[in-house]
Amino acid sequence: MDAAYWNGKAGVYEEEIFNVWEGDRDGTLKSFFERGEFRSQTVLDCGCGIGHGIATLAKHFKSVHAVDISKECLTVAQERHGSLANVKFFAADLAKRSSALPAADCAVSINSVITPSLKTRMKMLKNIREHLKPGGLLVLVVPSLESYYYASYKLIEWKLREGAGGVLRFGHEPLFKGHGVLPIDGVLTKHYLREELISFLRLVGFEVEEVQKIRYDWDTEYENPPRWMREPYPWDWMCVARRQSSKRKEKEIKTNRP
Ligand SMILES: C[S@@+](CC[C@H](N)C(=O)[O-])C[C@H]1O[C@@H](n2cnc3c(N)ncnc32)[C@H](O)[C@@H]1O
Repeated sequence: MDAAYWNGKAGVYEEEIFNVWEGDRDGTLKSFFERGEFRSQTVLDCGCGIGHGIATLAKHFKSVHAVDISKECLTVAQERHGSLANVKFFAADLAKRSSALPAADCAVSINSVITPSLKTRMKMLKNIREHLKPGGLLVLVVPSLESYYYASYKLIEWKLREGAGGVLRFGHEPLFKGHGVLPIDGVLTKHYLREELISFLRLVGFEVEEVQKIRYDWDTEYENPPRWMREPYPWDWMCVARRQSSKRKEKEIKTNRP
C-alpha cells in the first residue's frame, strides 16, 4: 500500500475502492460537518484519494488542503475539484514531516491510515497531529475489525439458512488473522477494534471524544444479498479526537510511554 499501489488505483478507483461518503447510509459523516461550526476553519483532507470528500469539506470549511501520497490520485482530484476556490492540493507522504502543509483546525482521514505497517500508521497519525493546532480536531474513519468478523459470520448464517451444513466443520482457521490486518479484495488492510482505536489514538497524543459507526448496506459486502439480511448493518468506525498538548505529552508521544 505504497505510493505505487495507490497510483495504480487512480484509473480504476471508482470500480475498486469503496466510497465511504457515498456508502454512508445514514449520512453520518456529512451531517457531522453540517453542524456549522467549521466556517472559519482550515481542514486537512489526509489521503484525499480522487477527492470524494473534497466538495463536502469545501462547503463547510473556509479552506481545504487536500493531501495524498499518490500524484495520480491527486491529479484526478484536481481535475474534479480544482475549480473550487478554497481548495489547495498537496502531494505529500503523511508518514514524513512536511513543512508545506499549514497548521489546521481539523484533519479528516477517511480510510487512509490503513496500511499494515504499525510503524507507518503511527508516523502518519503523529504527523497529522503535528499539523493540527492545539485543540484541533481529528475525524478519522477506519475499517472496523468487528464488522469484518461480523460480516464473516453473516455469510455463514446465509449459507446455513440455505442448508449448507458443511460450513459447521471448520478447517484450519488461519492463525495469521491476528492484529486486525486482514485482506480486503486480497489486499492486507488494517482493521481496528473500537477499544484498540481509542487506546492507539491516546498513545499518539489524541483524546477520543466520539466514536460512531458509519453504516453501510449489505451490498457493499456481498453481491445480491438476500432480503432478510438487514440490520445490524456492516460498518466502519468514525472517530473524533482532540489533540492533547503539554510538554509532558510531547515527551510521552516521542517515547510511546503514556
Ligand atoms: C482508501 S483511499 C481513501 C481516499 C479518500 N479519503 C476517500 O475517502 O475516498 C486511501 C488514500 O490514502 C492515501 N494514502 C495512503 N497512505 C498515505 C500517506 N502515507 N500519505 C498520504 N496519503 C496516503 C492513498 O494514496 C489513497 O488515496
